[in-house]
Amino acid sequence: MFSNTIFLAIAATLPLAFSSPIPAPAVAQTSALNDTDSIQSGPAWYSGPYYNFPSIDTWLGFDDMFNRNKNSMSANGDTGDDIGRIYNAIKDAATIGVDERVILGIIMQESHGDVGVRTTYSPEGIPTAGIMQCSGCNGYPGQHGLSQDQITSMVRGGTEHFKANLRDWGDQQATSSIYPALREYNSGSVCDQNDLSNGCGATASYVSDISQRLQGWVD
Ligand SMILES: *[C@@H]1O[C@H](CO)[C@@H](O)[C@H](O)[C@H]1NC(C)=O
Repeated sequence: MFSNTIFLAIAATLPLAFSSPIPAPAVAQTSALNDTDSIQSGPAWYSGPYYNFPSIDTWLGFDDMFNRNKNSMSANGDTGDDIGRIYNAIKDAATIGVDERVILGIIMQESHGDVGVRTTYSPEGIPTAGIMQCSGCNGYPGQHGLSQDQITSMVRGGTEHFKANLRDWGDQQATSSIYPALREYNSGSVCDQNDLSNGCGATASYVSDISQRLQGWVD
């Protein structure tokens, strides 16, 4: 089992002050399915079928990717303990059979890792909650300093949801499964396999953005 003590030693190297301002609260985008929380598009734009998106051998290692995202989590209100518990929760949820880097990419895309992220609602009024903004998942809007169980429940819920999407696309540790599954996670379906940046009414840049997070883009 991962030692939280060791992680906190890593977290302690974080600067105590952050130069980047906390983003302004997002205006609710009621036209979008499975809204994400005030996420801007990445610097590059990938589109087309899955093989147009970055290959797995261009992704960072998990610890490197995680360390790069800690400042963003802190800037969105997470405590040092919250961040350590997100790390632990991802390691735990990965045992469901999802690449830990993909779990982290979804977390950063959906909420910047803010454990107190707001709950968003689809046009039909279906809530998506928690750091992975999933239907049926727990949320703790406005709260920080959560317990390991609370954070683990959000990460396991989102990862279970993504695992079901992955199974719809062959459940392989391959971009042919992972990228369409990310589109399905955001949109509920893949309306155009020839363009995973067709958001089907949800976030068009979703797969493109996460593919860049896997390569180290941080916002
Ligand atoms: C996104 O919305 C669709 C349509 O409502 C739904 O089927 C899907 O489960 C949602 N995804 C998540 C992660 O909640």
